[in-house]
Amino acid sequence: MADRVCIVTGGNSGIGFELCRGMAAAGYHVVMVSRGIKRGQKALNKLQMEFGNNVEMMLCDMSDLRNITKLYSEFINKFDRLDVLLNNAGALWGKKLRTTQGQEMTFGVNHLGYFVMTQTFLPILKTTENSRIINTASEAHKMSRLNLEDLNFENRRYSQWLTYSNSKLCNILFTRELARRLEGTNVITHCFHPGVVRTRFAEDASGPMRLFWPLVRIFMIGSKRGAKTGLHLALSNEAGKSSGQYWINKKRRRGNRAARNDDNATKLWIRTEEILDGHQI
Ligand SMILES: NC(=O)c1ccc[n+]([C@@H]2O[C@H](COP(=O)([O-])OP(=O)(O)OC[C@H]3O[C@@H](n4cnc5c(N)ncnc54)[C@H](OP(=O)(O)O)[C@@H]3O)[C@@H](O)[C@H]2O)c1
Repeated sequence: MADRVCIVTGGNSGIGFELCRGMAAAGYHVVMVSRGIKRGQKALNKLQMEFGNNVEMMLCDMSDLRNITKLYSEFINKFDRLDVLLNNAGALWGKKLRTTQGQEMTFGVNHLGYFVMTQTFLPILKTTENSRIINTASEAHKMSRLNLEDLNFENRRYSQWLTYSNSKLCNILFTRELARRLEGTNVITHCFHPGVVRTRFAEDASGPMRLFWPLVRIFMIGSKRGAKTGLHLALSNEAGKSSGQYWINKKRRRGNRAARNDDNATKLWIRTEEILDGHQI
């Protein structure tokens, strides 16, 4: 059995790949969660060249939340502890798509994915001393206009950027409420903005964004730098002293007013539970 174990979702690409590298370099056994086998295997080969069998792959496409239950069964068969869960898998979709459970894809993967991963793995996180849940959020939350009554964009015209920004605000509100609910336990949680990072992010964008994003890639930071704050939150003593915070460049930030709204954080949690209840997973 491994001494310390972590899970990184979206671990095969971009920021997630560097989170896997950083965690493996810090001595963790890393479960790199990948959506698909092809890209996953390529990333796994690279990581295993550096870290051998201390990195392994498990598959989970979060657009069908039932896959998270399967992932949990696979994990629990091998491990009796989980020290760090890094919820990182996410994307922006140029057109309105739906998950298997019928949710709008951005909300479904970027928010419900984090939520269900966390709820599913919470029992083992709780039985592991000093465990952490770290969520990749974004400064994009500052462009959000979250409507708790229309999280799935049923009553508004689909906007890829607005839907994405909303999902990233959800990540911050989720972290805040999760910290409150975890008070008095051994589990802490934080979220972070990685910077504007040169990854495969926005490759499924449409319209002007599809043209614009590749043009500004040259000004973006590399994935290794993008993973630094996430690794700081997963590993440092400093981050272990608080919970529920939003960080950029290894420093606590306030986020915008919507991101500091505890009432909305609680309401989002309750709405999320209602949505999930209506769709058995
Ligand atoms: N890049 C930025 O500037 C930036 C800024 C702020 C926040 N972020 C956040 O950083 C996180 C990582 O993104 P990235 O920039 O590293 O982009 P990326 O290179 O595209 O990586 C995204 C990862 O998420 C996975 N993913 C997408 N949809 C999934 C699904 N349905 N199920 C499971 N996994 C799925 C991707 O899998 P595949 O390889 O199969 O596509 C990939 O592994 C995201 O949460 C994003 O919102 C990025």
